[in-house]
Amino acid sequence: MSDRIHTLSGYFHEYQKSVTQPEEFWARIADSFHWKKRWDKVLQWDFEGPDVKWFVNGKLNITENILERHLYTLGDRPAIIWEANDPNEAGRTITYRELYHEVCRFSNALKAKGIGIGDKVIIYMPMVPEAAIAMLACARIGAIHSVVFAGFSSSALSDRINDCGAKAVLTSDGNFRGGKKIPVKAVVDEALEKSSVETVIVYQRTEQDVTMKEGRDYWWHEVIEGEADTNTAEEMDSEDMLFILYTSGSTGKPKGVVHTTGGYMVYTKYSFENVFQYSPGDVYWCTADVGWITGHSYIVYGPLLAGATSIMFEGVPTYPDAGRFWAVVEKYKVNQFYTAPTAIRALQAYGTDPIEPYDLSSLKVLGSVGEPINEEAWHWYHTHIGKTKCPIVDTWWQTETGGIMISPIAGITPTKPAFATLPLPGVQLSIVDPEGKELTGNSVEGNLCIKFPWPGMIRTTYGDHDRCKQTYFSTYKGMYFTGDGVKRDHDGYYRILGRVDDVINVSGHRMGTAEVENAINEHPLVIESAVVGYPHEVKGQGIYAYVICDMTNRTEENLVNEIKATVSKIIGPIAKPDKIQIVSGLPKTRSGKIMRRILRKVAEGNLDSMGDISTLLDPEVVKEIIDGKK
Ligand code: PRX
Repeated sequence: MSDRIHTLSGYFHEYQKSVTQPEEFWARIADSFHWKKRWDKVLQWDFEGPDVKWFVNGKLNITENILERHLYTLGDRPAIIWEANDPNEAGRTITYRELYHEVCRFSNALKAKGIGIGDKVIIYMPMVPEAAIAMLACARIGAIHSVVFAGFSSSALSDRINDCGAKAVLTSDGNFRGGKKIPVKAVVDEALEKSSVETVIVYQRTEQDVTMKEGRDYWWHEVIEGEADTNTAEEMDSEDMLFILYTSGSTGKPKGVVHTTGGYMVYTKYSFENVFQYSPGDVYWCTADVGWITGHSYIVYGPLLAGATSIMFEGVPTYPDAGRFWAVVEKYKVNQFYTAPTAIRALQAYGTDPIEPYDLSSLKVLGSVGEPINEEAWHWYHTHIGKTKCPIVDTWWQTETGGIMISPIAGITPTKPAFATLPLPGVQLSIVDPEGKELTGNSVEGNLCIKFPWPGMIRTTYGDHDRCKQTYFSTYKGMYFTGDGVKRDHDGYYRILGRVDDVINVSGHRMGTAEVENAINEHPLVIESAVVGYPHEVKGQGIYAYVICDMTNRTEENLVNEIKATVSKIIGPIAKPDKIQIVSGLPKTRSGKIMRRILRKVAEGNLDSMGDISTLLDPEVVKEIIDGKK
């Protein structure tokens, strides 16, 4: 039986079935994969632990479902089409057969370096096919990958290396990004100063000078030399860890979200095929970076499990000019295009001239992910890119959910601008008020929770299960709490309103305000800081920092620049505050708690509705903050 939804009534039917008979529903989907041993039980769960297991005791290797599975039927079909940063550099096409051999060869090389089941491998690489090959090679030998976005600083990288106890790092000499050549190996060297990493494998991309440490560092092209291009995939358990991906939360350092093998495999393929209505032979392009969950689930795993052709793009939307995305769409006749609202808004600012030269008639589906899409951007995308004939799938999900949770099914679910519309089959949503009371019926607004497990969900936070419990399963008893606010309108459609915790979303990148504050506080002259988000035309949200500093012998301008540099060094350029206001005090309650509500209002420029400030320790400080607003 096909797992594809073809009609709206078919969607409702499948949804109903997934709720009333979840185990039968998911068993049917999972049966279309290759298992080395079928599972004993579909689902075992409690949200108290939390302890969730899907396809209990099932044995498999996810890469057999990507490689061996497609080898004879789709061997000549392009699996990955790679487009370089520079449009004049030739692209690469890797067929399913070639992908099979490349993954086998590299996984043999990893094994030869002593890497095997359960070892953690950090991947800190540019957007080249080898990044995907590296992920799959790890999965093939049972090693656990943790991809770190190559824009993170050495200190952020080192935190992640140490947190998961990585045995190896896979990286490159450098990285091309727009007009820039970025050193990558040098960042790795700095991160490795205090670590137990035994092996570093370096893919040569920019041919810039790097230092290679004897006995630790090896060139990618040298380690694969002479390795066989076939092997047998390790037999893994459904619940064996597939990968760890670090993401920011409202407190402390980023946490390692753990995804396991069987459920993630079933969920990413199912959601990919249905949401995008992928048909065999289509060319699909997701513009994300493999350093984020979108790249994991919808550049690599979902599409490749489905036998799709997935484009990997090394560059940026505005290089060499603002028509680049559309040039690539025309060049490869892209059918499904998936990007973030921040990219749409950035391109919108250039007007429609950069689009005109290109033929976008191949497009069938447009996708949006990572942050709420405002109505104006939605209409621009729909009109100028989709020429009003392509449905937009506004897909809501998170690193923790593994795959898309709320989204239209392309061309089937009627869309409404800025609405993610309806949950996918298997996703049981609940809107709760601050006390945890479920708000039933339509036309309600509250906090978004999920009350039943789905196969792609987070299993734990690496090395700290209690943190997983506290963060996601303790706010509302018996439910997974997403951290997002949501509205269900009169039609029962869902619209995501944004985070209700201390997480901000800057250009679709998730950032904890506490994490940015900690980085700011590393500057020796900073006494205290408070960070909030504010609406930003292109980025969705910008970072606004209020900072108390020792100003002796300093000008405000050079302090602000130094603070920005400190944040870049500790986290990476993506976390640099857009605005820094030096203040003499912060609004605090008598018990010493910072009143973020007030800081948010000032940053938003929402000065009329400050609310009650009489409980503040020093109400005068609010006036100073308003007067000095950036
Ligand atoms: O606030 C939601 C927002 O991004 C958060 C998840 O971020 P991350 O784990 O980095 O994953 C991003 C890519 C899946 C969510 O809690 N978000 C994601 N997609 C949407 C969204 N907000 C509104 N609409 C969306 N389509």
